Amino acid sequence: MSKIASQTPAAVSESRKKVTTKSLHHKKQQGELITMLTAYDYPTAMMIDRVGMDIILVGDSLGMVVLGYANTLPVTMDEMLHHCRAVARGAETALLVGDMPFMSYQVSVEDAMLNAGRFLQEAGMDAVKLEGGRERLEAVRGIVGAGIPVMGHLGLTPQSVNQLGGFRTQGKSAAAATRLLEDALLLEDAGCFSIVLESVPGRLGEFISKKLGIPTIGIGAGAGCDGQVLVTHDLLGLFDRFTPKFARRYANIYAEMERAFTAYRRDVENGAFPGPEHTSGMAEEEWEAFLRVSQNGT
Ligand code: KIV
Repeated sequence: MSKIASQTPAAVSESRKKVTTKSLHHKKQQGELITMLTAYDYPTAMMIDRVGMDIILVGDSLGMVVLGYANTLPVTMDEMLHHCRAVARGAETALLVGDMPFMSYQVSVEDAMLNAGRFLQEAGMDAVKLEGGRERLEAVRGIVGAGIPVMGHLGLTPQSVNQLGGFRTQGKSAAAATRLLEDALLLEDAGCFSIVLESVPGRLGEFISKKLGIPTIGIGAGAGCDGQVLVTHDLLGLFDRFTPKFARRYANIYAEMERAFTAYRRDVENGAFPGPEHTSGMAEEEWEAFLRVSQNGT
């Protein structure tokens, strides 16, 4: 068991140093697995940071699990930055990665650099993530050249859902697997510090991870990646529409919320809430004085 795994959350947060791209690289070299979760708000970021997660991703999955969009395409820079700022206020040690939304880096390298810069300058992020392989190399080089660490994202890239024909596993043919491997090597060469591999066959995830010097973070890419990420709402059972096959539910917060909200509604309706313990008192003489004044026609 790792040192962190055996500590309480409070002890973990006291003993941890800020996670950096360098320390993640070191973890890969040591064969230590990297942990990453998404967060979109202050309290969730605070708790994820407190338990010792290496990376917090403010993913554009925000659009689906928090904002209720059908997919990630409508998410804007302003929405991303708003949620990144909340996460940055809650986290101290995890490496903070802001997800570049659709059309914030595809149009020009200049656009990509300016938008990437906003994640660091205006929203407290340490790095950015963007989707795509060979077609994104110029953008990656430009952003990295500006001193901003970039995490790549290959396989099922949700911003291309219309091109991919749905949320489906990628890299299943020899040709597609070869292209994915080439893209991963090109992204590493362009300067990415890490790559998310989403929804690819497990043996391909492991193969690519072994070929790269930089760490891979898998989501639906098997246990052979250098780390794992989940969308926090899938892990908590807090997204009602579906749970991807590759996600493991560690809680059913949705059911717990339903129970709590229903109990509150019932308590209000039958007068059981608020109780005396939730209500402020007032000194008798002040009350008497108030009544006298109010009865005198005030
Ligand atoms: O947006 C997101 O949450 C992501 C993860 C699934 C990696 O990109």
